[in-house]
Amino acid sequence: MRLDKYLAQSSGFSRKEVRRFMKAGEVVVNDIEVTDPSIHVGEDDEVYLSGYPVDAPGDKYIMLHKPLGCVCSNDDGTHPTVLSLIDLPRAEELTICGRLDVDTTGLVLITSNGKWAHKITSPKHKTGKLYQVTTADPIPEDAVEKFKQGLMLHNDKERTKPAELTLTASNEAEVILTEGRYHQVKRMFAAIGNKVEELHRARIGNIELDEYLEPGEYRFLTEEEINSI
Ligand code: URA
Repeated sequence: MRLDKYLAQSSGFSRKEVRRFMKAGEVVVNDIEVTDPSIHVGEDDEVYLSGYPVDAPGDKYIMLHKPLGCVCSNDDGTHPTVLSLIDLPRAEELTICGRLDVDTTGLVLITSNGKWAHKITSPKHKTGKLYQVTTADPIPEDAVEKFKQGLMLHNDKERTKPAELTLTASNEAEVILTEGRYHQVKRMFAAIGNKVEELHRARIGNIELDEYLEPGEYRFLTEEEINSI
């Protein structure tokens, strides 16, 4: 997008005002002062107006491959947060759409659009989240029915909503949840006398974790992925 359009859309100044800022040397792109309003800039460029960073216009929608040892909160003082992996101005202001534990890996969606985030996290919208689980002990066949019927978890007042459990090996399974209670997968396996050893989220709704993303890497979502939620 042209720089003058980018700045006008993001800052609220008119294109005429933006060009005036440029002439006055107030616009810096990737550490270089720019006076040409027609140069093209995008998400990956660092644009500053009068010393303040200017985000690309429009909302941000990101998928991140969460590595072990990172937290999905803003800052717990001990572990790095997933937002510190996002190389964008004011990344710390973005919303993380549903948390994963520090020892869980996989798909995390991050956005600037609060309404979109709500569709993912609110149980009312029933957005399925697919987890791949490795357990300490073999998983019995009857666990499938128990997960479907819902389980009473320690200290909770209501049974869990029906969850779809598919056994993939003796100690491995995939489970799809439509709610996101605290440590839910681990507590559901604890409720049937087992222990989760490894947990990985592979899909949210129809959005699959991109196989080309290494742990710690991220990419912007496609239009199709954004609209699928
Ligand atoms: N359930 C858990 O127990 N942990 C997670 O990180 C996600 C779901």
